[in-house]
Amino acid sequence: ISIPQGQMIGADIQHFDEIDSTNNYAKKIANEGCAHGTVVVAEKQTTGRGRIGRQWQSDTSEGIWFSIVLRPEMKPEDLQVITLAASVAVVEAIEETLGIVCGIKWPNDIIIDGKKLGGILTELSAEPGHVNYVVVGIGINANQDLEHFDYEIRQKAISLKMCKGETVSRSNLLGSILTNFEEVYKGVLLGKNKEIIDRWTKYSVTIGKEVKIAYRNMEYIGTAQSVASDGRLIVQCKDGVTREISAGEIQVRGL
Ligand code: BTN
Repeated sequence: ISIPQGQMIGADIQHFDEIDSTNNYAKKIANEGCAHGTVVVAEKQTTGRGRIGRQWQSDTSEGIWFSIVLRPEMKPEDLQVITLAASVAVVEAIEETLGIVCGIKWPNDIIIDGKKLGGILTELSAEPGHVNYVVVGIGINANQDLEHFDYEIRQKAISLKMCKGETVSRSNLLGSILTNFEEVYKGVLLGKNKEIIDRWTKYSVTIGKEVKIAYRNMEYIGTAQSVASDGRLIVQCKDGVTREISAGEIQVRGL
């Protein structure tokens, strides 16, 4: 992977053949003081993790599994846009390097033909008013054939190879994602949230759709209207109330 001179994201890349989870390792080295922009990449993960306590199947070296350590000078409540920025970096890189246009399901599922190509798991260490570090973990199904996926997820998963009909270069794509992420991350620091959310919205398969929101044993149905500048999804619910929802606290399903 070639990283342009002066780029901070990926200036230090730590590569493993096998690891439990790149997010776990990234959090460990972040606690030990590693530099902003350090990237942890693994060929295989034995216990890859997804959002909301889910597993992430990544026991095969056909995927792209990596985590980025960030040390943003931001308030914890402003961080959500970083995850949206990461999904923009991923879909733009896939379009630029492979010509495949993916969709993004809010907040950050990368989708092709309604099937899951990739996802992002952001974890942070923060105190009130202060962020110690953020780990952005990204998983992309790259060169898996259908048989590489566990039987239960075959209906729901897709890879770039399945889509393109040929093997793709994982290192090219990773390099391109890291360079794009450097650019969108700088945008976040400069307060260009609106521009990033506009770019996110261009790929969104959620905006304008009916969604079901599960929140603390309650369920609401409504229409996803837009994303606010802090990254929250604005939903006009059928009970007449407009709700702004954060990725961490709710689960959104398309109807
Ligand atoms: C999701 O859609 O639920 C998020 C999936 C995130 C998977 C990636 S793979 C690299 C990093 N390490 C992990 O254990 N998870 C993330």
